[in-house]
Amino acid sequence: MSEAPVGVVTGAGSGIGRAAAERLLADGARIAGWDRRAESLSWLDGTPDAITEAVDVTDAEQVSAAAAAVGERWGRVDFVVNSAGIFLVGPVAEVAPEAVRTLFDVNVVGTTVVTQALLPMLVASRGAVVNLSSTVGLRASATNAHYAASKAAVAHLTRCWALELAPHRVRVNALAPGPIGTEIYTSAGMDPDAVRALLERRAADIPLGRVGTTAEVALWISRLIADEWVTGQVIAVDGGMSVG
Ligand SMILES: NC(=O)c1ccc[n+]([C@@H]2O[C@H](COP(=O)([O-])OP(=O)(O)OC[C@H]3O[C@@H](n4cnc5c(N)ncnc54)[C@H](O)[C@@H]3O)[C@@H](O)[C@H]2O)c1
Repeated sequence: MSEAPVGVVTGAGSGIGRAAAERLLADGARIAGWDRRAESLSWLDGTPDAITEAVDVTDAEQVSAAAAAVGERWGRVDFVVNSAGIFLVGPVAEVAPEAVRTLFDVNVVGTTVVTQALLPMLVASRGAVVNLSSTVGLRASATNAHYAASKAAVAHLTRCWALELAPHRVRVNALAPGPIGTEIYTSAGMDPDAVRALLERRAADIPLGRVGTTAEVALWISRLIADEWVTGQVIAVDGGMSVG
């Protein structure tokens, strides 16, 4: 490809999305960073190869306007990283149905809305989709069933879309990270001490003995975009947690 590739990263204001945007910019890509919190994207201000947009991924109108803005600016989209996501913890006896709806709306419907809006440009460029599943989307969890189910849905959408879009030469893969200390837990209402305790407990369950970093996931996001003969894979980046 003679021109620098163009990609959209959702959830680029924090955590894995931000690390992915940093990594992909360092790889030489041009990046549209989307997040529902406009202020979280200010770290991209003044970056020549980046544009930002306050976008709620569940809002099809906002997403389609933002997709059009990327098309107008650069005339192409080569990849999308669907990192916008939320967490929910709670036993089935107590969980609020409305919280479950919101969870699936962001993690499953949002991933769909964004991919759908960018699809014509992804088909034109024979591009790549990278979704964010989770170790708990591959392996059952007793403490966050609905979050785990939303991430299992993302994993299976990934495999199904890979088959559906292979004739267009669009590749679809996902990362399934193990636990990483980002804002996702406090944004879900957990207090910082509970998050620290959770991550310590999780670390004890991980064969390599520690939680991961956002940069470790971003490296694989970059690889999945670059490798042109991998599709339909959900790659665990989790210190061995999913096989333990
Ligand atoms: N942190 C972990 O332990 C972990 C593990 C496995 C998978 N994941 C997944 O990785 C992805 C990123 O998580 P993270 O840990 O970086 O979380 P994070 O909270 O640090 O970042 C998520 C970003 O998404 C944005 N966002 C949330 N809802 C949105 C919406 N409706 N529209 C647009 N933006 C929205 C938030 O504002 C935030 O900036 C999520 O899909 C998450 O499920 C995280």
